[in-house]
Amino acid sequence: KMKTFIDALMKKMTVDEKIGQLNLVVGGEATTGSSVSQDVDNKIRNSNVGGIFSITTPARIRKTQEIAVNNTRLKIPLIFGMDIIHGYKTAFPIPLGLSCSWDLKLIEQSARIAAQEASADGLCWTFSPMVDISRDPRWGRIAESSGEDPYLGSAIAKAMVKGYQGTNLAANNTILACVKHFALYGAGEAGRDYNTVDMSRVRMYNEYLPPYKAAIDAGVGTVMTSFNEIDGIPASANKWLLTDLLRRQWGFKGMVVTDYTSVNEMIDHGLGDLKTVSALSLKAGVDMDMVGEGFLKTLKQSLSEGKVTMAEIDRACRNILEAKYKLGLFDDPYRYCDENRKNEIFTEANRKQARLTAAKSYVLLKNQGDILPLQKKGTIAVVGPLANSRENILGTWAVTADYSNPPKSLRESLAEVAGSGVNIVYAKGANVSEDSALEARVSVFGKKMERDNRPAAELIDEALKAAAGADVIVAAMGETAEMTGESSSRSELTLPASQQALLDALMKTGKPVVMVLFTGRPLVLSKEDKQLPAILNVWFGGSEGGLAIADVLFGDINPSGKLTTTFPRNVGQIPIYYSHKNTGRPLAGNEFQKFRSNYLDVSNEPLYPFGYGLSYTTFSYGEVSVSNKSPKGAQKLTATVTVTNTGKRAGDEVVQLYIRDVVGTNTRPLKELKGFTTISLKPGESKQVNFTISPDDLKFYNHELKYDWEPGAFTIFIGPNSRDLKSTDINWSK
Ligand code: IFM
Repeated sequence: KMKTFIDALMKKMTVDEKIGQLNLVVGGEATTGSSVSQDVDNKIRNSNVGGIFSITTPARIRKTQEIAVNNTRLKIPLIFGMDIIHGYKTAFPIPLGLSCSWDLKLIEQSARIAAQEASADGLCWTFSPMVDISRDPRWGRIAESSGEDPYLGSAIAKAMVKGYQGTNLAANNTILACVKHFALYGAGEAGRDYNTVDMSRVRMYNEYLPPYKAAIDAGVGTVMTSFNEIDGIPASANKWLLTDLLRRQWGFKGMVVTDYTSVNEMIDHGLGDLKTVSALSLKAGVDMDMVGEGFLKTLKQSLSEGKVTMAEIDRACRNILEAKYKLGLFDDPYRYCDENRKNEIFTEANRKQARLTAAKSYVLLKNQGDILPLQKKGTIAVVGPLANSRENILGTWAVTADYSNPPKSLRESLAEVAGSGVNIVYAKGANVSEDSALEARVSVFGKKMERDNRPAAELIDEALKAAAGADVIVAAMGETAEMTGESSSRSELTLPASQQALLDALMKTGKPVVMVLFTGRPLVLSKEDKQLPAILNVWFGGSEGGLAIADVLFGDINPSGKLTTTFPRNVGQIPIYYSHKNTGRPLAGNEFQKFRSNYLDVSNEPLYPFGYGLSYTTFSYGEVSVSNKSPKGAQKLTATVTVTNTGKRAGDEVVQLYIRDVVGTNTRPLKELKGFTTISLKPGESKQVNFTISPDDLKFYNHELKYDWEPGAFTIFIGPNSRDLKSTDINWSK
């Protein structure tokens, strides 16, 4: 039916109308480049636009849709997109935080709620999920990713697509997802945004491509190209990537859109003028051109010069029309413009879910002497540059969030959750940073760092006075939301000097200090880890993030988040990730050894490994046993461990399975995540956890890009994180 409908429509379309469909314009203020679409309404009237993004509300979207439907010859509806990254009005934790829940149901639910709210506000397309693997915390957009691991990243990609698209894309409460940034955007050299990527195919296939593939397999409707080059060809003109791999090998049937002006940017990459790069892009497999209008301005001429074919323009046009068809826009162009759905947005139920999700994303990094949870009595001094901050908790790229209802600050949240039995005193103590250049650079979208212009010493004094009568100090430290995200790469990852000075002064009081760390990336916390008894990493928790911090600090919720990205000891260790290889000169133990693979000045070990996170209770792991030590062929085996809650509180534990392929025709990682599950245990309770392992879990791409498993020795590890594992060896024959 869809084919017949689109065939008939395309027969009526002129070349100009077809090229018009390939043009995606930006309508709002949330732009991420220097170009902004001009004269949008007229362009729609002239059939020069296929879609528009960054405008919202049923009224505004209806008005814009009316221009296309009432004033163009063929009445083709527009598609309306938006960066709905971690929630819509109800903001969920930044994706890096969300991934630390390791809870696929919760993650899917966050995307479902985002789709429900966005579609009630007129939208039908989100530029999410972002599934770029990143192993470089210098890169600001690691905040938008699910961290370093392809197995976990793939599971999350699938959950997000399911959440947004549901089972029926034409329903008015589901939206089209867009997996991005295809491909390898998270592997830019030196963590600098938009930078060159150069990677072997073996690494690409085994470590970076799986999450994109998982999204495709889950039925994602659209794909966004990345800004970076691959094999010397920018993604938006990379035929191998967009046609050979994406469409031929993976069977993707949806629509490909570029990132913001990435066609035009290929002029600066050095591939030629606008006409050349636009033709290259269409030929490579791009369907829709975001903002830059290279397609609109040049494709007709390229067609007349034989530089592109009508078949290529038709292919792109068809893919876009199909997306609109699947969304039901041809049946009813106003399907998502229902003014009566306002009550589905920012509801109590959605906010409750966001609060729980935020709490599940927080990672307890240290808790010496069980200083946490805090008691709901006495005096708590809340200090630090982020203690009284509201909008900041929404995190990076939360353009759709409800800024008229910002999250409660940590200070307000502690007071609310503690109740009247607790005396909360506050002082800022320090600015986020005293570096005015940094401050100016991060003030995008009109948001400025909140600054107190008094001398630093005066701010610290005030904090010390506030702390003097307190039983415990909660220090809210870290980054602002805008220090993370797009175009926010950093070369230093320690806490800014102003915050370190405040911490030093607070530690001298001799009072217990708990650091609540706001961050969008792994920071270098070597000094703070030595200095402080307790650190709770809260990322940026979204609309209810502040209250969720209070829930965790007071123990109403026992933290269970685990890191999905390695925390380095210093910047020089980057890139650092758990699934590294052995080398021919591995270091045995932790002490420096000459002529082994290590550093003179820092250990090889990270500060906090992948998978790590503490609880207010403790868990012990028994030995790992397997149902069969010598499986054969397609047999499956079960690996089992007993986990016991050895502490005094009920708690959740994310139990992790890793496998090492000990001998292969290719070198293999020391371990790879191959399974995980969360169990809830009461104090003293034990549970047996079983993982089923099949030869599929052993498969990898070899140097010929053949995907298979090889017989021989494997080590099966189970444990609470990628470092502290119990293991057993097996031999799997063919
Ligand atoms: O979706 C984003 C992308 O992640 C970065 N560049 C702009 C796009 C649209 O806003």
